[in-house]
Amino acid sequence: MAVKKSTETKVKSTKSKVSVEITPKKSILFVASEANPFAGTGGLADVIGSLPKALVKNGEFDVRVAIPLYASVDYAWRERFTFVGNFNVPLAWRNQYCGIFSYKYEGVTFYFIDNEYYFKRKALYGHGDDGERFAFFSKAVLEMMRHLDYYPDVMHSHDWQSALSIIYLKTLFANQYGYDRIRALFTIHNIEYQGKFGFDVLGDVFGLSDEVRSIVEYDGCINLMKGAIQVAEKFSTVSRTYATEIKDAFFAHGLQDIIAENEFKMTGILNGIDQDVYSASKDTKLFANYTATKPENKAICKAELQKMLNLPEREEVPVISIITRLVSQKGLDLIKAVFEDILSEDVQVVILGTGDSEYEDYFKFISSRYEAKCKTVIAYNKDLASKIYSGSDIFLMPSKHEPCGLSQMIACKYGTVPVVRATGGLADSIDAFNDEERKSGNGFKFYTYNAHEMLYVLKDAIFTFGDKKQWIKLIKSAMKTDFSWKRSALEYEKLYNDILM
Ligand code: GLC
Repeated sequence: MAVKKSTETKVKSTKSKVSVEITPKKSILFVASEANPFAGTGGLADVIGSLPKALVKNGEFDVRVAIPLYASVDYAWRERFTFVGNFNVPLAWRNQYCGIFSYKYEGVTFYFIDNEYYFKRKALYGHGDDGERFAFFSKAVLEMMRHLDYYPDVMHSHDWQSALSIIYLKTLFANQYGYDRIRALFTIHNIEYQGKFGFDVLGDVFGLSDEVRSIVEYDGCINLMKGAIQVAEKFSTVSRTYATEIKDAFFAHGLQDIIAENEFKMTGILNGIDQDVYSASKDTKLFANYTATKPENKAICKAELQKMLNLPEREEVPVISIITRLVSQKGLDLIKAVFEDILSEDVQVVILGTGDSEYEDYFKFISSRYEAKCKTVIAYNKDLASKIYSGSDIFLMPSKHEPCGLSQMIACKYGTVPVVRATGGLADSIDAFNDEERKSGNGFKFYTYNAHEMLYVLKDAIFTFGDKKQWIKLIKSAMKTDFSWKRSALEYEKLYNDILM
């Protein structure tokens, strides 16, 4: 099952003869638990679905991705996959089947790790044996390299689910042929989820000996994120501001000391989005398409959205949207604290998301009380999300912490002006109109995690919406903001090159 190294051909011309020099491209393997368009639950899937593609376009690296073959990967995709081979993966006392499928999509080779016992389940996460499932996945990715005779130059692993791939690489596989020269980069997309387990699984499930216990040990338990940060050559997170914030206990969920100790090898790189996918002019799910230079059709999207949700069809009332996982990190407590104040304005509010019952129940309850002003849809629904992004005027995202956040960028691309709290990637991606002498900017910002500060700035946005000339300028500048991967992909390339030096 040998897999060819992708190569770059350089033709050297001399006076009398032409010699061809083949330089193999350096190879990057992304290891992650989700990737669009195959399987995803959030921002991680967006990043793994779009950054590799952007890197391939730049042409410097050969880029591949490994993800689990979940039951939810559509049959229409599976039909196109090639079966590459199978082998068994030792995991502590277990010996588990692993099949490998591959598929080249938009220039990126995807490897799908197949084991129905672990991955043929309804949900991607939330199972009692998630630790074992992702330990298997991580180990399988490393075993795959031997079977394919493909050893990447950099293994770029993401979040706790893939942290063990780095921990295994630097322990069990440390001095083995092929593995000994692989460098590891670990990216934190959200420090809240660290992969914490009791010590009973160290040997019995993860197959790690007591000698390496100190690598994964933290605060009385196993912490996989901590282990990966410690042994990776470098680690990164998804915005510059978040990279600074996670040195602080308020943001770090207990890992602040580890971050501070390893700061010398940390980078913050802001995510981009796939602007071909999130595009008001191309998105076929919209009621009508429009552009930054001709945004008039956004009014059709708004009217149709109001009709669909049974809200009064009024162009002059601002529609405020909230599209998010309904969890505390997203700042929903601020919204709860002043929601009736917001609803006392002449506004309409649309909420889309799933999450904790505390928030689901609250928003459903409020919507039933303010039927003509507020609609809540409890769902993860991309089609509806596009319709809401395009049909609303203001996008509210008051996160308590936000490593990067993609929704504020998506909202901009649909001409929906974000009101955000200046934290993490929200701070780095939104230029505040309300700060910049009201002349430029692509959104509104507030700073303190305080409900009334949020309300004050939201009211400013509502007031500014009433000034049609000013608002159109804001819509245009939001839509024109460059959130492509171009710049960030170059930063990753630099990081890979630094690691390989
Ligand atoms: C996580 C973070 C989010 C980030 C995404 C992709 O979901 O919470 O802020 O945008 O990962 O990096």
